[in-house]
Amino acid sequence: MAKEPARVLVTGAAGQIGYALVPMIARGVMLGADQPVILHLLDIPPAVEALNGVKMELIDAAFPLLKGVVATTDVVEACTGVNIAVMVGGFPRKEGMERKDVMSKNVSIYKSQASALEKHAAANCKVLVVANPANTNALILKEFAPSIPEKNITCLTRLDHNRALGQVSERLNVQVSDVKNVIIWGNHSSSQYPDVNHATVKTPSGDKSVRELVADDAWLNGEFIATVQQRGAAIIKARKFSSALSAASSACDHIRDWVLGTPEGTWVSMGVYSDGSYNVPAGLIFSFPVTCCNGDWKIVQGLSIDEFSRKKLDATADELTEEKTLAYTCIN
Ligand code: NAD
Ligand code: LMR
Repeated sequence: MAKEPARVLVTGAAGQIGYALVPMIARGVMLGADQPVILHLLDIPPAVEALNGVKMELIDAAFPLLKGVVATTDVVEACTGVNIAVMVGGFPRKEGMERKDVMSKNVSIYKSQASALEKHAAANCKVLVVANPANTNALILKEFAPSIPEKNITCLTRLDHNRALGQVSERLNVQVSDVKNVIIWGNHSSSQYPDVNHATVKTPSGDKSVRELVADDAWLNGEFIATVQQRGAAIIKARKFSSALSAASSACDHIRDWVLGTPEGTWVSMGVYSDGSYNVPAGLIFSFPVTCCNGDWKIVQGLSIDEFSRKKLDATADELTEEKTLAYTCIN
């Protein structure tokens, strides 16, 4: 019997990531080739014409899995009955703006969208925040949607995770699909810590450690980390726009693995509510290694953290604590 359609909200749907993401969802990349979807697209009034253009293109593409499109600037209509919410909409930093100005705009957006989701989304709606500052936007959303379980509110660091896999694969000249278990710790910002200490590559004679295969600690502890941390900025420099296709694809990976599960022996990175694991302060949205099963994620426990890693984890946790304090000063 055919499955009931899942309702998937994409906010900021008329933007760059939205334009790359919605066809992926409509093709089954996010929820599977047997899962029909109804897309809910939200944007703001200045973008309404572009939003309607996206809706027209979705109809024109005749996706077999797409059972309906709700394109709206009304946040209540957008949130009603949604099972998955991908929050891409937000206010970008403009010339001359201070960090606090951007934070203040996004805090008020995420506060009001949190209330709409809490009141109108389907029970057990899973939320992925993509818009920057992603971890702190997700934290604000959590604070203002207290009846949504905290386990259901996450942010995107899978793009950073995929970037780390890509860098290892390029360096070793191996298939990216043979590399696994890198970790992104912390913030989706340049303070994040891409960690390869537990990562492996599949070889004909079994899984081998990335650190042993690369055999260049200076590169792994230096250029590799900096490249992943700075990749977003490098894409902006090259394209004059921030990453969109890789962000959209990684958002699909995040939700797909969360809903359908991670493969045996493999973990992924997700920004999730910290319970104090690895001595990360509880109450931050922090990127951890997680495994997913039956629609739930679980932080991978018991990984060894050396002194170098400890410092990096603490630095990114400090930045998130500062962002949290700043965000709270913007709440009104
Ligand atoms: P964009 O400017 O092209 O699109 C953003 C869209 O959001 C616009 O259409 C805008 O009208 C809309 N919007 C603004 N306020 C809104 C609101 N209150 N409600 C609904 N929609 C609203 O930007 P983009 O390139 O698509 O990027 C979107 C966000 O994702 C940015 O914050 C970007 O920094 C972030 N990003 C995050 C990651 C990640 O890995 N977490 C990666 C890339 C980009
Ligand atoms: C990215 O990682 O590509 C983006 O978060 C960069 C940005 O600032 O939008």
